[in-house]
Amino acid sequence: MTRLSSRHVRWFALVLLLVLISVTYLLSAPGKVQVNSEALQLFAPLPAVMSSPDNPVTDAKVTLGRILYYDPRLSANQKISCNTCHPLDAYGAESKRVSTGHKNQKGNRNAPTVYNAAGHFVQFWDGRAPTVEEQAKGPITNPVEMAMPSHAAAVEVIKSMPEYVALFQTAFPQDKDPITYNNMALAIGAFERGLVTPSAWDAFIQGDQSALTDAQKSGFNTFAATGCQWCHAGPYVGGASYQKLGVVKAWPNQTDQGVYQLTKEEVDKMVFKVPSLRNIKKTGPYFHDGSVATLDQAIRNMAVHQRGVTLTDAQVKSIETWMGSLTGQIPMSYIKPPELPQSTPQTPHPSGE
Ligand code: HEC
Ligand code: HEC
Repeated sequence: MTRLSSRHVRWFALVLLLVLISVTYLLSAPGKVQVNSEALQLFAPLPAVMSSPDNPVTDAKVTLGRILYYDPRLSANQKISCNTCHPLDAYGAESKRVSTGHKNQKGNRNAPTVYNAAGHFVQFWDGRAPTVEEQAKGPITNPVEMAMPSHAAAVEVIKSMPEYVALFQTAFPQDKDPITYNNMALAIGAFERGLVTPSAWDAFIQGDQSALTDAQKSGFNTFAATGCQWCHAGPYVGGASYQKLGVVKAWPNQTDQGVYQLTKEEVDKMVFKVPSLRNIKKTGPYFHDGSVATLDQAIRNMAVHQRGVTLTDAQVKSIETWMGSLTGQIPMSYIKPPELPQSTPQTPHPSGE
């Protein structure tokens, strides 16, 4: 009896030890951190395609749009394409502070990424184009970007190549005169609507608890505890509203007044579109003026200027770790540089070297 019970005691001690070990393990194992579920509700996964009833996406439009996106002959010196400033194999944004366009002229704003942009409520830092289709009409004739003298000049380039003529006919079969500046923009827009980069964050929102590490989950909680999600939420983690840059503490660079420059309304001073934080680790430098080189500093600045709080180094790092889960896969086959239509003797020559 006594021998048996002492054996029991030993077994009991062993079992207890095993239970203790597994509890300790479980507490430190992945899955320990619970994310702030209330804050999480403000987010949603990316759509497969950022569709619009005004420009239904078809394979023919996407094929044409991809070619136009990569074609430098839509610029005056025939050297600059959309891809020059928004390189698709590098997350669709340049690593320069501001872009360099025609004759090496510098613009005054940082080029945002074209990935996931079509889903934003408006385009540009100041929202002056409502859609990617409208946006696409801008750079080609912008004198510091692609610098074509007119819409007609761009259309003339396209019409000079029979391969383009056929591509436009296939993409816009209903149109009597398919080669127009507007259809060019519709095709580029259709292509951009497929530039989505789902990431671990999307898998997590859709219920895969293991898609995020504990450090990333804690990072989201830090982001939410700081109140960043009041502006950066939704499927694009931003891209859904205008806000003042410097709500709590004035932004140091007041040269560019954002929406105010369009409306001249006092309330619009320093108001900008809240950018998306998708792929944010890959799209520096940051802010409309490209004034901040590192994501670490960008997070600190936001906390100070938008929330009036100074984050600790650990908090900054934590938020940055969560942001890593917003880095998606570049859709390599979708963005594969296409073969461009052959120029002909009718194709206008470059100008303004
Ligand atoms: C010379 C560099 C340059 C070229 C070429 C260029 N862009 Fe941009 N792009 C920019 C800059 C800079 C901005 C921001 C300007 C602003 O907000 O005022 C921008 C903004 C955008 C946006 C808005 C994104 C957002 O988040 O608001 C889209 C979309 C875009 N460009 C697509 C294109 C397409 C399509 C082409 C080719 C037809 C093109 N760009 C050519 C530099 C360029
Ligand atoms: C009141 C609204 C608001 C809040 C709160 C806010 N942001 Fe922003 N955020 C903006 C606006 C507006 C911009 C664009 C500023 C500009 O014009 O450059 C921006 C830009 C950014 C950028 C740079 C994006 C880019 O593409 O250059 C990052 C990174 C960022 N925010 C992170 C955060 C973090 C982290 C927090 C919380 C500490 C936060 N934001 C809180 C409105 C907000």
